[in-house]
Amino acid sequence: MSNDRKLREQADTAIETYQEIVKQDPYRQAFHMSPPVGLLNDPNGWIQWRGTYHLYFQWMPFHTGHGAKFWGHFSSDNLVEWKLEPTALTPSDWFDRSGCYSGSAIDYDGKMKVYYTGNVKDEKGQRQTYQCSAETVDGIHFVKNGVEIELPQGYTPHFRDPKVWKNGGQWYMVVGAQTEDRFGCVVLFESKDAKEWEFRGELSHSTREEFGYLGYMWECPDLFTLDGQEVLLFSPQGVEADGIDYNNLYQTGYVVGKLDYQQAQFQHNRFQELDRGFEFYAPQTMCDEKGRRLLVGWMGCPDPEEKIQPTHQYHWVHCMTIPRELSLEHGKLIQRPVEELTDLRTGQRYNEQVTKQTDFTIDRASEVQVNGPIEEVNVLDYARLVYDPDRGLLTLTRPAYGDGTVESRSCRLPQGVQQLQFYIDRSSVEIFVNGGEEVFTSRLFADPDVRTFEVKPRESIAADVQIWSLRDNVIHF
Ligand code: FRU
Repeated sequence: MSNDRKLREQADTAIETYQEIVKQDPYRQAFHMSPPVGLLNDPNGWIQWRGTYHLYFQWMPFHTGHGAKFWGHFSSDNLVEWKLEPTALTPSDWFDRSGCYSGSAIDYDGKMKVYYTGNVKDEKGQRQTYQCSAETVDGIHFVKNGVEIELPQGYTPHFRDPKVWKNGGQWYMVVGAQTEDRFGCVVLFESKDAKEWEFRGELSHSTREEFGYLGYMWECPDLFTLDGQEVLLFSPQGVEADGIDYNNLYQTGYVVGKLDYQQAQFQHNRFQELDRGFEFYAPQTMCDEKGRRLLVGWMGCPDPEEKIQPTHQYHWVHCMTIPRELSLEHGKLIQRPVEELTDLRTGQRYNEQVTKQTDFTIDRASEVQVNGPIEEVNVLDYARLVYDPDRGLLTLTRPAYGDGTVESRSCRLPQGVQQLQFYIDRSSVEIFVNGGEEVFTSRLFADPDVRTFEVKPRESIAADVQIWSLRDNVIHF
């Protein structure tokens, strides 16, 4: 039996063995893509191809830690209902045997072509990296092409996560990298045929003057044009916390500027964090057939806390964020839940105006919209969102997984809170502030029996509260 077939069968067996246990978890998500079993991390190969949305994902089927990753696969016709498809890629070859790491998808000549990093670790733990490709005619069954790009000089083997796109008849690829002197950067390749790649140099670097210092490794770069400007999204590692900024172990953010394709030069401004919550990392975007720039992120972070999330005992860990539509306003990325998600609503539970602190009873899969100036919201007696007008800060607190001490994340909001939208699932909350100007994405392991949602408007000014219950049967395994 081929190695590929053996690994596929082992992954299928892992699903069969644990699926009943996974389902019993009270924290199992209702409408967020989660692994059938094992660990899920980065979104990969995010594309709408021949009408269908495909989201591949980094997957460890055999346990709830990291390791030799597979590409799992969800597909959807509407961005609401998702179906688990057969395993897309297994780490079965010499060039990817320690993991088919993250990458992206394009339509090429009517086929779908995916690019990913072949991660190889030898007996001594020495890493090698290969940028590989694979093709499919149905989006499901892939044929690997092998290695397309070897490690260029000047970089350590922390060189990965190819994202490919087309511009003006040429193909381009960004790769996240670490220079030999241990700085994070993003490099650019160019190709006529999406097969033979020419190294064009670095687009940005940890020590650019816009940053000072921005870490020792940059992962998961994504470069796209929005409203006539180029956005480079990436996840730097090694940035120290600074007041309310960079509070997660690893960050995700972006720079906005102008890419000169001829010169392979990228003029850009400062780094801005994309999300202010506790768990958000390695997002990927694509342009769908409606021309929207859609983003999905990993609702996790490779930090020590991921190892103590309560779902491990049920043989799964992590999930994706909901799909979000991006726009650029005054140099800032705005994220809004895709409009299709209104189809998740099963019925409206509340539509009320409140002038004082008010308690609502919600389902554990709910959408809440609050319009009006807000002082405080208490989500499931577990997470609190508080606005401090003196400091102009909006702060989310929750008990830490480990010792239960209160931990917090904040964003600057000098103009106050006018609007909040919450997507609450059994163990997560995504909070879109003022129409997506800021977002807090976090797992939330509140007591499964708790159903309270408390709103306190500012200075007794009326706020409108609308609450919908959401569907529970949209991820099909
Ligand atoms: C980001 C990342 C990527 C890598 C993948 C491995 O979370 O570390 O750089 O390709 O995960 O699973």
